Amino acid sequence: MKHVKTIRWQLQGTITPDHPAIQAAAALLLQDELIAFPTETVYGLGALADREVAVRKIFDVKGRPADNPLIVHVANHEAVLTIAQDIPEAAWLLLKTFTPGPLTLILKGKGVLSHRVTAGLNTVAVRIPDHPVALSLLTRVEKPVAAPSANRSGRPSPTRAEHVLEDFDGQIAGILDAGQTGYGLESTVLDMTVYPYTILRPGAVTLSDLQATIGADRVRLHPSLYPEKPSVVTGHTVDDDASDTVARSPGMKYRHYAPDVPLTLWLLNAERLDPRVPSVQHILLRLKAMLQKQLEEGLRLSFLVYEEDMPILKTVLGEMFLKIHFIHVGQRGQPEAIAASLYHTLRSLHPQSTDRAHMLGVLEDGVGLAVMNRLRKAASEIMTEEGSTI
Ligand code: TXA
Ligand code: MG
Repeated sequence: MKHVKTIRWQLQGTITPDHPAIQAAAALLLQDELIAFPTETVYGLGALADREVAVRKIFDVKGRPADNPLIVHVANHEAVLTIAQDIPEAAWLLLKTFTPGPLTLILKGKGVLSHRVTAGLNTVAVRIPDHPVALSLLTRVEKPVAAPSANRSGRPSPTRAEHVLEDFDGQIAGILDAGQTGYGLESTVLDMTVYPYTILRPGAVTLSDLQATIGADRVRLHPSLYPEKPSVVTGHTVDDDASDTVARSPGMKYRHYAPDVPLTLWLLNAERLDPRVPSVQHILLRLKAMLQKQLEEGLRLSFLVYEEDMPILKTVLGEMFLKIHFIHVGQRGQPEAIAASLYHTLRSLHPQSTDRAHMLGVLEDGVGLAVMNRLRKAASEIMTEEGSTI
């Protein structure tokens, strides 16, 4: 791939559409170049959504499969009308309630965008991001901007400019750097072209948030997202969507977020790591046995740990505790905080210092559902009470 000098604009203070960096970045977008920018969720890799040549570059640099469509970002509610049609009343209510914000709606498209953006579908994913830099850029270009997360396909999404540069330095025209993003996980994706309206990707706007706004029976989770129907995974191969014959969201069938070190996820659909609970005790014994075996093999182990779990793990693991590198990921009772740093933690796992990583699951509810959705995809192995899903 051709090497370019990637411009990094480090932004501070109040950002408006007239800021010189926004003007420069907008000018490059209008010349069909790629610009990475922060949103309130993760960094996006932007291109003009109605320009075939520009959108093509996104797929090329990301190594993204052509059948996985992109989210189109616009600055305000009126702009939604320029790319979508037959918009249901409930969509307007959701737009008013949650946007700008971390909610993406799948609506019927108007056919005005590059076919690559929608991967040939007649629907379009629309989002109004809640970040002054993203909104300033969108306002400045006055056009819809297609922007997937700014990571190479399969890698954890970027929550800092450094992550974007890790993946794309020298391959994109520029990055607007406004430091760390807020939520840390991508937006909730809600398909409003089916009924009941269906969450295809869980995020910070939760099922109960949506139900409280438009009615409990009008919105549901996609069946593959129910915790009691865990996705059948793993190995470093395919597919988290074996339960569905046709994946509603093409993105659902690809493996994502993989760290550079194999990650074993131990499902624990409980509020606490309470060893008096038989199912928890069972998991802990199996965990201990596996860690012991791996240490005996001379493997260097990292454990992504919740604060509340530390004392229990110390007791259960005994002297093994000292041989494992613990990385703190927040409190299991606060999934929002776990979400905010999750991708950074996954990206910080390096094969130079770690051979295997382990992590326990959190309760799959609220934002915990979004966290677990990403972890299930990131894991190379998922351990359940009954056995592994290898
Ligand atoms: O928070 C976010 O949504 C971030 C920031 C940058 O805005 N963007 C993001 O985009 O996560 P991306 O491309 O990484 O994820 C887009 C998801 C994929 O799962 C894709 O399959 C789905 O949205 N999607 C896009 N268009 C769709 C459509 N027409 N029908 C169904 N799913 C669609
Ligand atoms: Mg992505």
